[in-house]
Amino acid sequence: MIKAVRGTRDLLPPDTALWNFVEKTVREVFEAYNFQEIRTPIFEETQLFSRAVGEETDVVSKEMYTWEDRGRAESDRGHSLTLRPEATAGIVRAYIEHKMWDRGLNKLYCMGPMFRRERPQKGRYRQFYQIDAEVIGPESSGSASPVRDAEILEMLATLLDRLGIKGWTLEMNSVGSSAERVKFNEALRVALEPVKDKMCADCQRRAVTNPLRVLDCKVPEDQPIIEKLPRISQFLDEDSRKHFEQVQEILKAVGVEFEINDRLVRGLDYYTRTAFEFTHGALGAQNAILGGGRYDGLSESIGGPPAPGIGFAIGEDRLVMTLQESMGSIQQKPDVYIAALGEGMDREAARLARELRRGELIVELGDEKFRLKKSFEAADKIGARYILIVGENEAKSGVFALKNLGTGEQVSVPRAELAERIKQVSRLRDR
Ligand code: HAM
Repeated sequence: MIKAVRGTRDLLPPDTALWNFVEKTVREVFEAYNFQEIRTPIFEETQLFSRAVGEETDVVSKEMYTWEDRGRAESDRGHSLTLRPEATAGIVRAYIEHKMWDRGLNKLYCMGPMFRRERPQKGRYRQFYQIDAEVIGPESSGSASPVRDAEILEMLATLLDRLGIKGWTLEMNSVGSSAERVKFNEALRVALEPVKDKMCADCQRRAVTNPLRVLDCKVPEDQPIIEKLPRISQFLDEDSRKHFEQVQEILKAVGVEFEINDRLVRGLDYYTRTAFEFTHGALGAQNAILGGGRYDGLSESIGGPPAPGIGFAIGEDRLVMTLQESMGSIQQKPDVYIAALGEGMDREAARLARELRRGELIVELGDEKFRLKKSFEAADKIGARYILIVGENEAKSGVFALKNLGTGEQVSVPRAELAERIKQVSRLRDR
């Protein structure tokens, strides 16, 4: 039997209803903050990710799905391509390619699959879904302002509240400007020199190539050493400190709670200044529902003009998982099952179904070969609220037997009143 590849999975009904509920809510909330959708390709040139995300990150050094293109044309051959492990690099590439600075401040979002060759476990997949948002523009558009940082953090708090997710924690840090990061990296290098031989192989390598990445290490034996390393907060200059304070002041003014975590550096190299994560206790080891931060030098690192930006990505798989724990699943239930009884009734039933569906009802259609008992069983199985009997007599008289499958009550309803009658029952469709 051929099965889905390890680390990938099928999303099936009724779970997909929860995914759609999340995505619908996301669109409503993001649009209220004037975000617009962008869709970028699912694969890009490999060098986009190595330059944007950083060669030394786990994502680029270990987890990318990369292949050499084999196209017929000379121009295709030998190109190294990669399935996107994240969305920010592609969006910033699009910003540069389409000179989107002409629009001033861009507030963009996208949703879709990302790919990382990680060890699969609960909440961690090789194909997973992100809901990503980015605010990017030339300096003159105000894209570097702490107002933007606070706005997206407040938007995230609003979204989680709207989804009914309780018990999340927002952790923030400032990881400084790129100049401050250079100084911090140098201090880490010096501090690591006498201790690195006691650390894991990855850390020994990173201590030389990119000491900041040592802070991502999850090996338990390395943690006491990491705990004693210098902290980025000691290296922030006046401007960065002020920027971070302003973000905090606005958050306090709008009533969004946060914690400062000066160990938080995030796993991708492009971050500058504000970096953050929202975590949730219900998720276990993979407890980050979302992460993000500012990336003021990213555009330049892939050949674009200065374009400060900030954004985040929600792990949609994890968001849905927390929702499932709090609200269970939502099931789409048809308003009515139309039972065609007897020869020639399929056509009449199809006409009725068409009318009722145009009246915005969810309709499931039986088959004239079914007996009454089988029709009731079919209606029951899919959770239909009503069953509508379409037999020869009903078709002739234009008055139909409509039975409420919840209460057992049956009434005779003229054709023109059917839709209204069925609609009167409260619907759970939107939640
Ligand atoms: P990230 O922290 O690598 O950031 O990923 C964001 C979120 O995606 C994580 O918090 C997690 O919920 C989810 N995620 C990551 N890997 C997996 C996986 N293997 N399985 C399931 N969920 C996963 C970024 O990707 C940045 N591009 C975010 C960003 C946007 N920063 C600025 N703009």
